[in-house]
Amino acid sequence: MLMKILSKSPSQTEEIGAKLALQRTQGKFQQKQAIIIALEGELGAGKTVFVKGFAAALGVKKGIRSPTFNLMKRYPIKAIGHRPLAISYLYHLDCYRLNSGKELEALGFKEIVSDPRNIILIEWAERVKDALPRKYVKVHIDHVDETTRKLQIFNFQF
Ligand SMILES: Nc1ncnc2c1ncn2[C@@H]1O[C@H](COP(=O)(O)OP(=O)(O)OP(=O)(O)O)[C@@H](O)[C@H]1O
Ligand SMILES: [Mg+2]
Repeated sequence: MLMKILSKSPSQTEEIGAKLALQRTQGKFQQKQAIIIALEGELGAGKTVFVKGFAAALGVKKGIRSPTFNLMKRYPIKAIGHRPLAISYLYHLDCYRLNSGKELEALGFKEIVSDPRNIILIEWAERVKDALPRKYVKVHIDHVDETTRKLQIFNFQF
């Protein structure tokens, strides 16, 4: 596990998302596929809040909301300041309505995963596990109380 952290507010969850975004996009890009962040947790856990903070750190400040009605959304990423970014797109998926990863095929998911310039954040990733590659980061969020969430971040490499 990378870390386990208690968030006391939505903005703190956004901040944790932002930190992970910066951590994952700093330094040399050596990966051969897209960076994948698999988000798990019940309805209202804070997955979308996390994605909002993550995306904001990469300059995507508008438009992030639960894409329940359009399964997948794509946002272009531009260089931030003078730090050149080797990323071209952030993809945000919400797989709540899916029953297997097969249903992602029609969206060209395989091609999106195979491009190392992409970052893909997947809500309800547990529903499409069969479509995930061997290497990804898992973010599991649990309710503690109305304003507290437990976040666990894992680095997966099978
Ligand atoms: N510490 C916290 N972190 C994140 N969200 C919090 C926190 N405390 C309260 N909340 C609230 O919990 C809700 C989280 O909603 P969000 O849409 O991010 O959940 P979700 O996991 O994406 O749900 P869904 O499965 O429906 O997509 C928001 O209303 C947010 O304000
Ligand atoms: Mg959501």
